Amino acid sequence: MSIETRKRKADHIRISLNHDVQAKNVTAGFEDVNFVHKALPEVDKQKIDLSTIVFGHKFAAPLIVGAITGGTQKAARINATIAEAVEELGLGMGVGSQRAAIEDKALEKTFAVARKKAPTAFLIANIGGIQLINGYDIKEVKRAVEMIQADAIAMHLNALQETAQPEGQTNFRGVLEKISRIAEQVDKPVIAKETGAGIAAEEAKKLEAAGVKGIDVSGAGGTSFAAVEYYRLKQSRNSFQRTLGEVFWDWGIPTVTSIVEVSQAVSIPVIASGGIRNGVDAAKAIALGACLTSFSQPLLQAAVKGVEETCNTLSLLIDEFKNTMFLVGADSIRSIQRTPVVITGKTSEWLRTRGFNVEGYARRGRT
Ligand SMILES: Cc1cc2nc3c(=O)[nH]c(=O)nc-3n(C[C@H](O)[C@H](O)[C@H](O)COP(=O)(O)O)c2cc1C
Repeated sequence: MSIETRKRKADHIRISLNHDVQAKNVTAGFEDVNFVHKALPEVDKQKIDLSTIVFGHKFAAPLIVGAITGGTQKAARINATIAEAVEELGLGMGVGSQRAAIEDKALEKTFAVARKKAPTAFLIANIGGIQLINGYDIKEVKRAVEMIQADAIAMHLNALQETAQPEGQTNFRGVLEKISRIAEQVDKPVIAKETGAGIAAEEAKKLEAAGVKGIDVSGAGGTSFAAVEYYRLKQSRNSFQRTLGEVFWDWGIPTVTSIVEVSQAVSIPVIASGGIRNGVDAAKAIALGACLTSFSQPLLQAAVKGVEETCNTLSLLIDEFKNTMFLVGADSIRSIQRTPVVITGKTSEWLRTRGFNVEGYARRGRT
C-alpha cells in the first residue's frame, strides 16, 4: 500500500474520533418508526431470547460491529479489542477494507488479529467494489477471506466517498458484473455493503440476482464519509474538493428508508447500519425486516478505550434491545419481527410515494 493510502486510512480514524462527522440535516429516520407499547406485555424479561441464526451462524443477539479499520498499528489494536469483545458476547464484526494487506503482506497481521482474538465469532472480510473494477479478482478476494478465516465477505460500495476524495476513483462501470463473477466463485456468502449512503430497492434486486447473499444497507443518518473527507481536506488548499464534501455531507437514502426498500425487494438477509445509536433503534430495524444490526462509530469510540469499555457499550445496547422487546411483549427475535410498527412523517411519505407497503407493519397482529 502506498504511504498515501496508509495515511488516508489513519486520517479516517483520527478524524472520526476527533471531529463530528455525523450527518447534520438528515437523520437515519428512527424517530419516524414507532412501536406500539404493550401495557400487558405477558413476557418475563429475564426469559427473553435474543439469539438468532443468520448465514447459518448463531448470534447471541442480532448485533455486529461494522467494518472500520486495519492496516496500521492503531488499527490492529482496534480490531483486536473489538474482536475480543464480540467473542465474549457471541456477536460478530467486520474488518475494514483489506486492500492495505493485499498490497503489503506485512500488514496482514493487523487484520488477522481479529480471528486470533475471536476464534468463534462471525467475521466479515472487506474489499472495495472499486478494487474489483481496478484489477482485483477471485485471487484477492480469497486472500481477504483466508487472512481472517472469514465467515463472509463484504464488497463495499463507496461511490460517495470516492467523489469526495481528490484521489478518488470514479469509474464504477462494470461493478455489478464483477461482483456477480466473484459471488459465483467464492465459497463464502458475499454481502454487498454501502458505506453511509444507503441502497435502494432497484439496486438490491440487481445485487440479489447477481448472487449476493446479503445486503448491508449502511444508510444516511450516521457517519458521513463526505464529512470525513471534508475534514481531511480542510487543511489543504483543495477548496474545490472541500466544497464537494460539504455539499454532499448529508447525501444518501436514510437508513430506515433503505431497510424498508431493501427488505421488501429481496429475500436475502438485510443488515441494518448507518446511524443506529441505541438498542431501541436496533429493535426497530429488526422489526422493519433486517436480520442483523451493525454499529461502527459508537464502537470505534469505545474500542480506543479498551475491551472493558467495548464490552460495556455492546452489553448496554443488548440490554436496551431486550428492554424494547419486553415493552412490546416480544420474547424472541421471531416475535419482534412480527411486532406492529407505525411509520410516520417523512419516512412514510417517501415510502408511500415510491410504492412500498407501510400499512402492513402497522396492522400486524390485528386480525
Ligand atoms: C473510521 C471508519 C472507517 C470505515 N472504513 C470502512 C471500510 O474500510 N469498509 C467499509 O465497508 N466500511 C467502512 N466504514 C463504514 C462503516 O462500516 C459503516 O457502514 C458506516 O460508518 C455507518 O455506520 P455508523 O453510522 O454506525 O458509523 C468505516 C467507518 C468509519 C467510521
